[in-house]
Amino acid sequence: MMPGRASRPGVPYGEQPVTSRLDQFLTGSPWRQYVYGYPHKTAYRAFAEPRPLEAVWANERPDTRFLYVHVPFCELRCGFCNLFTTANPADDVVERFLAQLLVEAKETAAVVGTRRYTRAAIGGGTPTYLSAGQLERLLGVLREVMGFGAAPLSVELSPATLTREKLAVLSVATRLSLGVQSFVEPELASLRRPQATRDVLGALELIREHSRAHLNIDLIYGMEGQTPASLVGSLEAALRWRPEELYLYPLYVRPLTFLGKHAAWDDHRLTLYRVARDWLGSRGYRQRSLRVFVRADVGEVELPEYHAEDDGMVGLGVGARSYTKALHYAHDFAVAPGAVRSIIDDYLARPAASFQVARSGFELDVAEQQRRWVLLSLLGPGSDGGAFASRFGVPLLEALPQLRQLVSEELAAWQGETLALTPRGLEWSDALGPWLFSSEVEARMSAWEAR
Ligand SMILES: C[S@@+](CC[C@H](N)C(=O)[O-])C[C@H]1O[C@@H](n2cnc3c(N)ncnc32)[C@H](O)[C@@H]1O
Ligand code: SF4
Repeated sequence: MMPGRASRPGVPYGEQPVTSRLDQFLTGSPWRQYVYGYPHKTAYRAFAEPRPLEAVWANERPDTRFLYVHVPFCELRCGFCNLFTTANPADDVVERFLAQLLVEAKETAAVVGTRRYTRAAIGGGTPTYLSAGQLERLLGVLREVMGFGAAPLSVELSPATLTREKLAVLSVATRLSLGVQSFVEPELASLRRPQATRDVLGALELIREHSRAHLNIDLIYGMEGQTPASLVGSLEAALRWRPEELYLYPLYVRPLTFLGKHAAWDDHRLTLYRVARDWLGSRGYRQRSLRVFVRADVGEVELPEYHAEDDGMVGLGVGARSYTKALHYAHDFAVAPGAVRSIIDDYLARPAASFQVARSGFELDVAEQQRRWVLLSLLGPGSDGGAFASRFGVPLLEALPQLRQLVSEELAAWQGETLALTPRGLEWSDALGPWLFSSEVEARMSAWEAR
C-alpha cells in the first residue's frame, strides 16, 4: 500500500470523508502522479459494444479541435520512460505504420470530418525517428486527409535524431520541443539515456539557426548524482539558447526501483525543484504550472480558440488517445517491450473499417466531466468559477465542495472568481491531482495490470 493511503477499518478507501483523505495525501509523498489528462489511460477498459465514431463525435464543436499524431518509435528506450514506444523497429515497421496511418486518417476523416483543427501536435515516442521523407508524408496526411491548415503545430524532437533536412520539413511547426533531460553526461547515464552533450548542442544550434518556431527544452530533476549546483548548470546551459519555454520534469521511476530510499528521494526532488523554480524566476521565467516555465518577454500569441478542458482531440497513430466530452478512447496501452510490439502488430493488421469505431476507453458522466474540467484547469492556470458555472449550470463549490479544503490548507486561493494554486499548492500538484480522482477511476487504475 502506498504511504498515506491507509483505510479506516471497514471503510472502503473511496468512501472516506474527504477531510481525512486530504490529510492523508498531505502526510504522504508530494510526488504521486503526473496528471496531464483525466482519467488516466490505465482506467480505460473495453466497451461492451464497439462505439461508432460518427455518433461519438456528433455533438462536439466542429471548429475547435486538436489533432494529435503519435509516433511510437525511438532510437532507444530510456531507462525512465513509460511512454508508448518501441526502440529501433525494423525499417518495414515504420513504412507499414505510415501506410496504416494513412488508412486510419481516411477512415477517421470520413466519420469525424475534416473540420477546422485549431491545434495539432506530433508526439511520441520520437517523431524525428522518421526520415525527412517519412516526416513529409506524415505532414501530407495531416494536410491532405485531415484538412489541417495553418494552425499552431508542435513537434517533439530528440537531439541525436534531428537533421537539417528534417528541420526543413518541419518548417511549418510553430513549436519545437527538444528532449534534453540534462547537460551532464553521467546524469544521463544514471537515467539510462546514452546521449552525447555535443549532439544536444548540435541540435540546439540547428534549431536556432534554421527555425523560427518557439523552442521548448525538456529537463529532468531528481536523478542519482544530480546536485542543486549541477541542476543549475543544466538550466544555465539551456538558457543560453533563450528557450521560450522550459519543461522541468521531476523524475518518476517505477516504485520498486526506489523502494527503501523513497523518503530521501522525495526530499531530493523537492530541494531541486525549489532551487530550479527560484533560479528560473530570477532569470525572467514565469511559472505556469509545476512543470512549465515560460520566458517572461514572450508575448501572449493570438491563437485560435481551444480549451483543453472542453474541446475535442482526435488522435491518430497507435498509442494516441482521443477525447470528446463524454467519451475518451484509445488503442491498447502497454509499457513492456514485447507487449508494445504486439499492440503495434495488431494496429498494422487492422482492417480499414475498424478505425470507424472505438473499442476501449472511458465514458465520462457529468460528475467525471466536472472533475476533469477542474483537474486540468486547477493544475494549470486556475479554475474559473464563472466559466465552470456557465459550462455545467452549477456552482463550482457545489459540484466539488472538497475544493474548500484547498483554501483552508493554503494550497489554493481565490483570485477574483478563479481558484488558483498557491506556491505550496504548486509543490503538491502531483498529489492534489490524484486526490481529486473519483473512486471509480482510482479503483480501475489500481486494478490495471501492468504489462
Ligand atoms: C516524448 S518525450 C520527448 C521527446 C523525445 N522522445 C526525447 O526523449 O528526446 C517526453 C518527455 O517526457 C519526460 N519524461 C518521460 N518520462 C519521464 C519520467 N519517468 N520522469 C520524468 N520525466 C519523464 C522527458 O523529459 C521527455 O523529454
Ligand atoms: S524519453 Fe523520449 S527518447 Fe526516451 S524512450 Fe521516452 S519517448 Fe523515447
